[in-house]
Amino acid sequence: MRNMVSDNARRLESSPIRTILDRASALRNSGKDVIPFSAGEPDFPTPETIKQFTMKAIAENYSHYASNRGLPALRRILSGMLKAGTSVSYDPESEILITSSGAEALNNSILTFVNPGDEVIIPTPAFVSYKNLVKLAGGTFIDVPLRPENGFQLDADEIEQHITPRTKMIILNNPNNPSGAVYDREALEKVGELAVRYDLLVLSDEMYSRLVYDGAQFVSMASLPGMKERIIVVSGFSKTYAMTGWRLGYIATDRTLLSAVLKVHQYSTTCSPTFIQQGLVDSLELPETEKAVEDMLAAFTRRREIILQGLRAIDGITPVIPKGAFYVMVDVSATGLSGADFAVKLLEESNVATVPAIGLGDSCGDYIRISYAASDENITEGLHRLEDFIKSLKKA
Ligand SMILES: Cc1ncc(COP(=O)(O)O)c(C=O)c1O
Repeated sequence: MRNMVSDNARRLESSPIRTILDRASALRNSGKDVIPFSAGEPDFPTPETIKQFTMKAIAENYSHYASNRGLPALRRILSGMLKAGTSVSYDPESEILITSSGAEALNNSILTFVNPGDEVIIPTPAFVSYKNLVKLAGGTFIDVPLRPENGFQLDADEIEQHITPRTKMIILNNPNNPSGAVYDREALEKVGELAVRYDLLVLSDEMYSRLVYDGAQFVSMASLPGMKERIIVVSGFSKTYAMTGWRLGYIATDRTLLSAVLKVHQYSTTCSPTFIQQGLVDSLELPETEKAVEDMLAAFTRRREIILQGLRAIDGITPVIPKGAFYVMVDVSATGLSGADFAVKLLEESNVATVPAIGLGDSCGDYIRISYAASDENITEGLHRLEDFIKSLKKA
């Protein structure tokens, strides 16, 4: 048989994160106690309120198709939350779309706006899906490396140097996975000016907007004057509400852009699970739900302190201080190993699972990504193993 795989699908790369996660789970299955510094998800259970009201929604037969846009009541709640969190007004009728995960929201947004041959600028390090979705749409991923010495802060000058007549979109992830950078208002304003001057769209992935620390302020790019009409905001419930397995997300954008995305969404998942949406309608605004989120935030704040203190004390590696999300990029080049070799050796010899950052940006070969979405005990144990591993490298 001929090779039937489409050219676009053939361009996709396997995720480096998957490879490590698969090996880590094989080690776990063989009885090894593996420290999970690789996970991109909170280790907490979903808040009780959300679980209870979703079970109620199932019992009450919310089991039929919902509107393609999502339940109106959920869109109204999200509109209120977006207004409170970002000061941007989105009309719940026409400017919010509920999707089956942030991943679907990204997929729908990129497939809606990227033509074959379009260039899409992605400041890196960045979440691995963006470049692959751009390839799936037939577009060209333009890697714009940000500087570790600036904490991987957004840099409009670097971005401008990569703009060409073929540039269609800039993808920003704020706060950033994997760097933990929280983009400051001034940098966002400068990038916004570029978007207007060169007539570009901005896909703003704000999945971690609630997870900021140390006085950092999350600013939604859509809140800057005149920007809403060219910003597609993608977000979801996975990280803030520890709902990674539920698969629910959303898009908020100007009505004209949203009506185009809606068509792609209709032909991908049609609508998102109705009982989950109803469960969220009944639980999202309850004080108990907010309390559960705040408890998680307090835990992440404490864990961030523990991991940074531990990493700073280890000779031979350099963490880049994160202000948001729950990841730290760590430069391991002083050990003489690439990030990829370091991550593999660390997993095999010390059973600590991290992510080699090379798949997250062309200039990230010296880095690993550590996730501190792990228990305090696992963080402490992981730091000990990391330190011993580096000492063993020096002796070898
Ligand atoms: C930056 C970012 N965006 C989007 C997603 C997708 O989230 P989900 O599909 O679980 O809603 C993730 C998940 O890791 C992420 O890190």
